[in-house]
Amino acid sequence: MRVAILTATVLLAGCSAEPDAPLAKPTGAFQPVSITLPAETAALPDTPAGTTLSQHCTACHSPDFLTRQPPLTADKWQATVTKMREAYHAPISPADEPAIVAALVTLQGTTSAR
Ligand code: HEC
Repeated sequence: MRVAILTATVLLAGCSAEPDAPLAKPTGAFQPVSITLPAETAALPDTPAGTTLSQHCTACHSPDFLTRQPPLTADKWQATVTKMREAYHAPISPADEPAIVAALVTLQGTTSAR
């Protein structure tokens, strides 16, 4: 009986024990830092193509990123849009891809012949 009480006391004491050692203190001091990002000045045009790209691409990309892409042909844009959907999970329906590709080609003034 005494052994049982002793064992229970030891177990309970173990449960309520303080952590073994205090956490290590950080060696360096953290300093607050602020950065100022440049203002976004680029905008997609207020056209059907611009609206299409706003709806499908600007959740992840700035207008600046979209308007500074090198001119691509429709088939290259098709591959990129499919990659956005499949690799990066852009919420694009495959049924919308032809309209998106057309919008990209229109935005750049490129043709599929290039
Ligand atoms: C869900 C987020 C998301 C959406 C929506 C999205 N993208 Fe992307 N995109 C990405 C990521 C992530 C990358 C890779 C970035 C990197 O590598 O630094 C990328 C890269 C790109 C690139 C660089 C070339 C390449 O193939 O990696 C282009 C061009 C591009 N996207 C165009 C588009 C266009 C056009 C749309 C709209 C149809 C779009 N993206 C929609 C996430 C997205």
